[in-house]
Amino acid sequence: MKFFIDTANIDEIREANALGILAGVTTNPSLVAKEKNVSFHDRLKEITDEVEGSVSAEVMAEDAEGMLREAEELVKIAPNITIKVPMTLEGLKAVKKLSEKGVKTNVTLIFNANQALLAARAGATYVSPFLGRLDDIGQNGMDLIAQIAEIFDRHSIDSEIIAASVRHPMHVTEAALHGAHIATIPLKVITQLVKHPLTDQGIEKFKNDWNK
Ligand code: E4P
Repeated sequence: MKFFIDTANIDEIREANALGILAGVTTNPSLVAKEKNVSFHDRLKEITDEVEGSVSAEVMAEDAEGMLREAEELVKIAPNITIKVPMTLEGLKAVKKLSEKGVKTNVTLIFNANQALLAARAGATYVSPFLGRLDDIGQNGMDLIAQIAEIFDRHSIDSEIIAASVRHPMHVTEAALHGAHIATIPLKVITQLVKHPLTDQGIEKFKNDWNK
């Protein structure tokens, strides 16, 4: 499983990229709205200059034509822009057209296996099931990852599964075990992945013994 970071904050992206583990970035309108004094396009340019892998940029139009118009502008920013499209009927139409043109797509806001299968069949490069938001309403987000992984495997579907809405380290381990190809994670959780109290205690003990 590969790691993407889920943020539009350039400092966070640089920090994660320096760790050598970053394969891509996902943004969404809520994450972009937190960034002040910078335009969406300028921020995407900064991100694509920093990260070689896929950078997801979400379209805001609700009709396929509008989504395609926005996508046309977004792909001019850099070759590694992936167009993030919501899971709707219009979104599927847009994904189909974009995939025919060779533009990468990430179908977002996936909450059941049928949505993932439809997105894949429309030509999505990535499908993004939202783990945390399912857990929030008492459903099991991880079961969804497992279902999608099994369906894609059984039907030889190439679309990659991005475990999204990741809230804590156990989501990351479980997503990897259940067959997600990628997890998109906030910096806070990436930092938590590094930590273990026995690692910290071990470092402290080595330091003390060395100083003796
Ligand atoms: C993924 O592409 C989404 O941007 C993201 O993971 C949503 O996470 P949230 O449910 O924490 O907002």
